[in-house]
Amino acid sequence: DTRRQLIADLPKAELHMHIEGSLEPEMMFELAQRNGVDLPYADVEAVRAAYSFDCLQDFLDLYYRGMSVLQTEQDFHDLTWAYLQRCRHDNVVHTEIFFDPQGHTSRGVAFATVFEGIWSALLRGEAELGITSRMILCFLRHLDEEDALRTLDEAEPFLDRIIGVGLDSSEVGHPPSKFQRVFDQAGDRGLKRVAHAGEEGPPEYVREAVEGLRVDRIDHGNRSLEDPALVEALVKMNMPLTVCPQSNLRLAVVKDMAEHPIRRMLELGLHVTVNSDDPAYFGGYVNDNFNALVEAVDLGREEILTLVRNSFEASFLPEVERAVHL
Ligand code: ADE
Ligand code: ZN
Repeated sequence: DTRRQLIADLPKAELHMHIEGSLEPEMMFELAQRNGVDLPYADVEAVRAAYSFDCLQDFLDLYYRGMSVLQTEQDFHDLTWAYLQRCRHDNVVHTEIFFDPQGHTSRGVAFATVFEGIWSALLRGEAELGITSRMILCFLRHLDEEDALRTLDEAEPFLDRIIGVGLDSSEVGHPPSKFQRVFDQAGDRGLKRVAHAGEEGPPEYVREAVEGLRVDRIDHGNRSLEDPALVEALVKMNMPLTVCPQSNLRLAVVKDMAEHPIRRMLELGLHVTVNSDDPAYFGGYVNDNFNALVEAVDLGREEILTLVRNSFEASFLPEVERAVHL
């Protein structure tokens, strides 16, 4: 198929990928053994069989359990290096990865351990694979803002290597406004800002993220479509939405891939990109996500080209480096 080939061949940027969500079951077992962690699964097949989710929280419960095998700097390096191999395979030449420090510091793993493990792999990825990258520190929104503020303080020595902050985890009941102060502080420190919004939460959360948190991108944003005035505002400000098709399907944000709104989003003039979110949990990396759309909603050549161009335009690469890819 020529569209599959086009997707495979095009250099792409990925803007929405949680590094802890790239932990494949095989590595989960390997690290569990290395670190003497007991897993509640008999084998790799049992892990995969458990990956059947009714909603975001169903997934998050397994996601936080899975990350308990990540303990040493080497573990974080290996995890990130494995993801970069997938990038090379998919011809992802630039990636802006999320990490969830609170998921690790809360169980006694130091911020520096997490950070340096990921960072050393990203450096190696640039040197050996030519893949450029950035790190985005995400706050867990089910925790309180004080915890996020403490995390931003802990990150202080590393901020020159962190491009921005994000907001993830359980959305409903944890609106962006809960994190106003920590996002203001992040902005004062020169950090970019992104937030998951409108994945399960209402359009109002997207509005809060844009107007209150002053984000540079919205992660997901699917439910914006319920509010035409909001869509119009997002189009007008050229706000990127980092959409994750296979995640949407697996977390029941869409009932069927054939009903995925990506084409409608494009037609409305929204600046959408395609991303894998948590590839080890949702059945695929970036190319798989594009291919799933091609098959289910008959995405065409021009649409594929637009989505890929959007991924570089919406990236946090400096203007001159972005231009090279456009
Ligand atoms: N953490 C990891 N993946 C997530 C998602 N899709 N939504 C919210 N929090 C997440
Ligand atoms: Zn996400």
